[in-house]
Amino acid sequence: MNSFIPWIGGKKLLRKEIIGRFPRDKIDRYIEVFGGAGWVLFYKENKTGQLEVFNDIDENLINLYRCIKYHAEAVQKELDWLLVSRETFHDYKRLINVDGCTDIQRASMYLYLIKVSFGADRKSFATSSKNIDNTKKLLIEVQKRLSSVVIENKSYESIIKVYDRENALFYLDPPYYKAESCYDSKFTEEDHINLRALLGDIKGKFILSYNNDPYIKELYKGFCIEEVIRNNNLSNKNKEYKELIIRNY
Ligand SMILES: C[S@@+](CC[C@H](N)C(=O)[O-])C[C@H]1O[C@@H](n2cnc3c(N)ncnc32)[C@H](O)[C@@H]1O
Repeated sequence: MNSFIPWIGGKKLLRKEIIGRFPRDKIDRYIEVFGGAGWVLFYKENKTGQLEVFNDIDENLINLYRCIKYHAEAVQKELDWLLVSRETFHDYKRLINVDGCTDIQRASMYLYLIKVSFGADRKSFATSSKNIDNTKKLLIEVQKRLSSVVIENKSYESIIKVYDRENALFYLDPPYYKAESCYDSKFTEEDHINLRALLGDIKGKFILSYNNDPYIKELYKGFCIEEVIRNNNLSNKNKEYKELIIRNY
């Protein structure tokens, strides 16, 4: 299935390339460390007996996933009250961080901000038509897919340390090098270095997507590095972008 939301850096156009490179050996646990819209998780097969973990540091995003997992119908009802307008968009940007909102109210406001903003940046109101009703209908199916997924809200270091085992597969899609400010988290140059150091030392397997930058190629020298091409999915539809898929197997 597809994800139910757009997301900055979402892997809608690269998900088949990534899943096509998953290892053939038995994998007991699958961990998506930088979850976002989860384009890979939603597209991948849900194998019986395999533990699946979905993580992101963004609290509002993870609250949305948890509310859909446990209270999808309540989120749907909450969305019934929302109107698409520039004024409500700016009201929700403010209200989402005010104490006193319930988790379900925060979840529906965040879904609204993602859907109604330009390029899902949650900051600027998009002038194109947005249909919340179609997304609302998908939530029960999303709830089923998430029913056995462990949802975490931690930084990458602790997730990698806690879930690393011999038969683990980590899929990692960190903020791109020199594009870290697209997200609310403070991902720094040291984080790119720290992530590389952690991945060099794990027992399990990893598959990592990155922007095609000489610095990243140098950082991961010695691992399997492939250049793949995708078309831009935002402003310039005809432009092709090269990205990297890096693996330790
Ligand atoms: C490129 S996006 C992931 C996109 C995702 N693969 C998809 O298909 O939608 C990177 C994600 O990393 C998250 N992130 C940033 N810093 C993080 C950290 N220190 N630990 C875990 N997640 C982090 C961001 O919130 C963002 O959702």
